[in-house]
Amino acid sequence: MRYDFSNIKIFIEDDYTAMGKRGAEVFSEQLAANPNGNYGFATGSTPVSMYQELIRRYQAGDIDFSNINTFNLDEYYPIKKENNQSYDYFMKENLFRHVNLDLARMNIPNGEATDYQQECEAYEERIKAAGGIDLQILGIGTNGHIGFNEPNAYFMERTNYATLTASTIQSNKIYFASEDEMPKHAISMGIGSIMMARKILMLISGANKAEAAAQLLFGNITPQVPATALRLHQDVTIVLDQDAAKLIKDRL
Ligand code: GLP
Repeated sequence: MRYDFSNIKIFIEDDYTAMGKRGAEVFSEQLAANPNGNYGFATGSTPVSMYQELIRRYQAGDIDFSNINTFNLDEYYPIKKENNQSYDYFMKENLFRHVNLDLARMNIPNGEATDYQQECEAYEERIKAAGGIDLQILGIGTNGHIGFNEPNAYFMERTNYATLTASTIQSNKIYFASEDEMPKHAISMGIGSIMMARKILMLISGANKAEAAAQLLFGNITPQVPATALRLHQDVTIVLDQDAAKLIKDRL
C-alpha cells in the first residue's frame, strides 16, 4: 500500500521479504534511469532482503551494476577489512561480489586508516569529486540514528568520527564474539552528507523499529532523533514492513 506524507512516499509491505522486494524495485527503477550514477549503500540486517532481490534481478539479467560508483554510509573504526563484521566485508558478502560491480568503484570509509580525521575529510571529498550521491539507501537505528549519526545536540554536517552510544553498542554487539571486540567508534557520513543525496530510500523492518519510525514521521525535527532531518529532504521513499509500521499506519 502506498501513502504520500508530505514530501515522503511511504510503502507498507506485508513482511520483511516484501519490504526488500519493494526496495529493490525502487532501486532498480533508479538504476535503469541512471546506470552511471553514484549509489549510497547501507549495512545492517534490514537491507539484506533487498540485496537478495537485487542479486536475483542481476542474475535474471534485469539490472546492471557495471557503470555505477558506490559509497557506503559508514564503517566501524578501527576495524580490519578482513574482519567478517566490517562493513567492507558485509557489502562484498551480501551484494557486491554477487553482481557485476567493479570493486574499484566501491567506496567505503577506511576502518584501517591511521588518521581517522584525514579519512573523514578524504571520504567527503571523494563523494563531492564524484558529483554527489544520486540515491542513498538508509536503515534506521532503534534510537533514530542514520549511518552512525547518533542522537546529538546538533546535526553532524559532514563525514565524521562517531562515538557509538550505549544503545547502539547494545544493538550491534550480538554480531561480535564479545562486546570487547566491537569497535566503539565509526566513520560515518554526516547528516549533511546524507541530505545532499538527490534521492533517499529508507527501509525499516521489525517491531523494535516502530517507535523510531513514528518519531521519524511525527516527532519534532531534532538532532536527538537524527533521522527526523529527512522530513526536510525533498525526495524520500520509505518502505516499511507491517511490524515497523504498527504505530504509524493509522495516522497516514
Ligand atoms: C547500524 C548501521 C546503520 C543501520 C542501523 C540499523 O548500526 N550503522 O546504518 O541502519 O544500525 O541496523 P539493523 O538494520 O541491523 O537494525
